[in-house]
Amino acid sequence: MNFPASFHISQSRRKLLHSLLLTTGGIITQSVYAEALTLTPRATEGPYYPDHLPLDQDNNLLQILGNQAPATGIITEFGGRVLDVDGKALNGTSVELWQADTNGCYIHSKGAPKGKERDPQFQGFGKITTNEKGEYRFRTIKPAVYPGRTRHFHIAVLQNGKRLLTTQLYFAGEPQNETDGLLKRIADEQQRLSVIRDFKPLTSDSQELVATWDIVVGLTPEDPEKRRGGPPPKR
Ligand SMILES: [Fe+2]
Repeated sequence: MNFPASFHISQSRRKLLHSLLLTTGGIITQSVYAEALTLTPRATEGPYYPDHLPLDQDNNLLQILGNQAPATGIITEFGGRVLDVDGKALNGTSVELWQADTNGCYIHSKGAPKGKERDPQFQGFGKITTNEKGEYRFRTIKPAVYPGRTRHFHIAVLQNGKRLLTTQLYFAGEPQNETDGLLKRIADEQQRLSVIRDFKPLTSDSQELVATWDIVVGLTPEDPEKRRGGPPPKR
């Protein structure tokens, strides 16, 4: 499997940037450095962070422990590294994923659109702790598009129980990306592009999708007040 590390800059380029800083006595615009690693943009948590967490919370959302049948939907895998802005891998960081199932329903008491039912075989929420290389990975399904939004995953990154980042991950090529309010709200183009990934078929004859996504976080915990996207809409 090929995993291009989109935010990785080579050691030689880092050294070059560093020596530029030294030789110019530090007089170098921040943008030169910022160009190297793009901070993953924040997004509101939205109304459907699970209000009751599933018993099984592992990083394979396809299969609930003890259930026979797997979730319905197109199998989708993604993973990458959690990095700080200097490119340092963050070990022991918790990455959480929550998302709509194949019917557009969340694990939330108000998370089902009118007339839709949650897939009981889909875990809906999962988490994983990064290893010493900062790596994380999820195996899940392609989330359905539900009214008012383009296709997306919700992601949170926590360190020592404190939320560092809440964000959303998008699929390249989705027509609704052009009109999605939350995606369009990301003013910085580099940041916006950093959360839109190309989910490609695993093999030429496979329906299964795969993508790589590195998450770049600041180390100051998030203000919990700013994360909420308002109460769940009445459905
Ligand atoms: Fe959502």
